[in-house]
Amino acid sequence: MNKRTLLLLLACTTVTVYAQKGKKSKVVIKPRTEFVTELMGKMTVDEKIAQLVQFTADGTVTGPKSGSNFINEIKKGNVGSILNATNVQYTRQIQEVNLANSRLKIPLLFGYDVIHGYRTIFPITLGETASWDLNIARIASEVAAAEAAASGVHWTFAPMVDISRDPRWGRVSEGAGEDTYLGSKMAFARVKGFQGNSLKDLNTILACTKHFAAYGAAEAGRDYNTVDMSERLLRETYLPPFKATVDAGVATFMTSFNEIAGVPSTGNKWLVNNILKGEWGFKGFVVTDYTGINEMIPHGYAKDEQHAGELALTAGVDMDMVGAVFLKYTKKNLEEGKVTQAEIDDACRRILEAKYDLGLFEDPYRYNDAKREKETIYKKEFLDAALNAANKSMVLLKNSNNVLPLKKEQKVAFVGPLVSDEYNIIGSWAATGDRNGYAVSVQEGINKFITDKSKVSFNKGVEIKDTKRDNIQAALKAAANADVIVAVMGEFENQTGEAASQVDINLPGIQKEFLAELKKLGKPVVLVLMNGRPLTLGWESENMDAILEAWFPGTMGGDAIAQTLYGVNNPSGKLPMTFPRSVGQVPIYYNHKNTGRPYLGASDPEQKYKSRYTDSDNSPLYEFGYGLSYTTFSYGNLKLSTQKLSPNGKLKVSVDVKNTGNFDGEEVVQLYVKDVVGSVTRPVRELKGFNKTLIKKGETKTIEFELSPDDLRFYNIDMKFVAEPGDFEVFVGGSSNADLKSTFELVK
Ligand code: BGC
Repeated sequence: MNKRTLLLLLACTTVTVYAQKGKKSKVVIKPRTEFVTELMGKMTVDEKIAQLVQFTADGTVTGPKSGSNFINEIKKGNVGSILNATNVQYTRQIQEVNLANSRLKIPLLFGYDVIHGYRTIFPITLGETASWDLNIARIASEVAAAEAAASGVHWTFAPMVDISRDPRWGRVSEGAGEDTYLGSKMAFARVKGFQGNSLKDLNTILACTKHFAAYGAAEAGRDYNTVDMSERLLRETYLPPFKATVDAGVATFMTSFNEIAGVPSTGNKWLVNNILKGEWGFKGFVVTDYTGINEMIPHGYAKDEQHAGELALTAGVDMDMVGAVFLKYTKKNLEEGKVTQAEIDDACRRILEAKYDLGLFEDPYRYNDAKREKETIYKKEFLDAALNAANKSMVLLKNSNNVLPLKKEQKVAFVGPLVSDEYNIIGSWAATGDRNGYAVSVQEGINKFITDKSKVSFNKGVEIKDTKRDNIQAALKAAANADVIVAVMGEFENQTGEAASQVDINLPGIQKEFLAELKKLGKPVVLVLMNGRPLTLGWESENMDAILEAWFPGTMGGDAIAQTLYGVNNPSGKLPMTFPRSVGQVPIYYNHKNTGRPYLGASDPEQKYKSRYTDSDNSPLYEFGYGLSYTTFSYGNLKLSTQKLSPNGKLKVSVDVKNTGNFDGEEVVQLYVKDVVGSVTRPVRELKGFNKTLIKKGETKTIEFELSPDDLRFYNIDMKFVAEPGDFEVFVGGSSNADLKSTFELVK
């Protein structure tokens, strides 16, 4: 439906306004259980089923649109929730239609993908995770929630907590990378940020943990593809970030598109009813992903839509996103005894409770205040927070001869396809983020800094993917006149995100060719990257003098890049995902198993019959946890409070970290543990703690961690989650290659 038709439809609707615009509602309602029970006592089966139905308005669509005439469906009383409608005016209009037609005046719930900002856009989630700063993650979600809530949105489909070890998968940009521990901490912080202390607060929204589960383990990194893995791997590596969000009190969950071991998540009773709602005691509601119910037919799991609807509801799914299956078949399934009234009631109750928690029964328009919307969007403090987050997410991959930071006296040629970009810089899934001029480009950021314009020049030279060469000469000419060359390069924003898997993760187009031309000029070349996934940067790491990974840094990205290049910001980010040497190494991750024939590298006396590639090193190009600073840090004096940890004991690990360079800087001190022998084999090491801390030039800080036997638990041979007595190794350092080591024993 186009906007015009929609407006006409809206205009023709007789509207009964539930709570008059401008007037503060003083409605006092009963406590939640009592209120919802009473309401449900009045609801017909059809009215209950309607609560389980979500349709999309005319915003972003990520699949086929069923029930696209959502306004008519609302008028018929068939809808409980709408996605992809934003701004106070539009959501108010839709809500008015709903309330005018809803016998019991049950408000609609508006959901939207607010992933890394609503209008003020923060770095993509993978980049934000590179900050290893939980406050940054919480604040980014707080800001996103405040702006979205002020714009009529009640519910975000975030955080995305899918662990992934595969940079071919485009959706790595939306998540926290490869590590379970870091991912769990980030997931917790993000839920707290979105939901705040109380969902009644007008700057909070419902969060939705997605995609349950193991969506990031898609075979061959191809989106929506099959997943198969042991229950142990699922529970140890993929599920903990989901569990962390339940602990944080997340209001909703979304099932994933993929199957696991032959069962699509949307029909997976074991996953949804047993683990999520049973074992973990999740009290919120579960929505499918976009047409997830319908997709059980091509999966080969449901014979038709009615069957798919039965499978989903009985698995524990509460709301059907866009598929219209619950709407069409739930009553029939009830009449035929395929689903029970109790199942419908449970789903309906969970959804009504969420609406209650948001205060929608008191005032369905409480998120529809145009004045608040205007005052909230792009608030100065939000932009400052976005700048800070972008600064903290920068990862310095290489810096030969301290070519960075740049000096204001130097003549710098800024080149590359993203040098003036205001579109891609905010990344994919950027909600209502402005792509046409609001974001600060690198050029703008630099220009704020450098008043003497003869010191800087800006020329794209090449495009991201396009191979046209018309502008290369002009850019080379400017570069030839400079002291330093800065090439701002990377991917299109939509090369990552949903349905954006790639088999080639090199710098696209002729960007590398252009870099080779620049290098021939004999000047130092700095590569600044904007991308949503780990790239294969073997050539670049050998040939560039410095590499700064800026991810897609968001609305304030250009300022952050300028501040980092000129040393106002000292980069402190660390990689949340391994950067491979070549795509042939994928999946590649730091916490792998050792194998029976581990390869020891070039010094290994046996070069042939080892677990290795014959045409590449096993090691990654840049390992998980890696990232440089303009200063340097040295680690020493690793101490353990005891060599024998008792079952109820605690172990303190301390290390001295000294800033040995010339700048104040933040370091992410990382603690890894290896369980040497287990009833099942254990990874070569696992992250068990981190601490990001500012260490002044010349200063030494003692950093302490505490470990307890609980931190050493895993699913043993009997699938019991226990810590097994025996020897452990501890590593502390600035990346997953940390080599400062000690040992202890967990005693019986
Ligand atoms: C995506 C979800 C998203 C949903 C609604 C789906 O295609 O997989 O992550 O929340 O669309 O936009």
